[in-house]
Amino acid sequence: MSNTIQFPMLGDARGSLVVLEAQKQIPFDIQRVYYIFGTQEGIARGFHAHKELLQVAVCVSGQCKMLLDNGNEKTVITMDSPTHGVLIDRMVWHEMHDFSSDCVLLVLASAHYDEADYIRNYDDFTSLSSIEKGRISE
Ligand code: TYD
Repeated sequence: MSNTIQFPMLGDARGSLVVLEAQKQIPFDIQRVYYIFGTQEGIARGFHAHKELLQVAVCVSGQCKMLLDNGNEKTVITMDSPTHGVLIDRMVWHEMHDFSSDCVLLVLASAHYDEADYIRNYDDFTSLSSIEKGRISE
């Protein structure tokens, strides 16, 4: 899975600046932005996939780990750079682990919040994923 997006850094002597625009650095129209911060030690978040939603996550401060699982392949990405985004495609199970106390995880999403778009059960995810990939789920 190739899920990282590198953002150009527009820096000058004063410091750094990264810009994220819909259909440019971010490959969809942004409908929602949220951010996760102050995550307690030992806490992991996520543990779901989305039926349709596309998201890009950026760790703008600190670090955390992002596990992505497309039903065939799992990858763990260390997120520790405000110049790198991680694309969370539709039908990708994701979990966030190992948040540093200063971690701020910014997420840009392609649609408004919709609980009906969530798949929160891993077995449901693998079944649906198999059906989509053309294999008949047992
Ligand atoms: P949840 O999806 O469980 O967070 P995570 O996947 O990061 O662990 O969301 C936590 C709560 O916040 C849950 O009650 C739903 C709510 N929520 C919204 O109302 N709008 C949103 O855009 C998001 C992401 C969550």
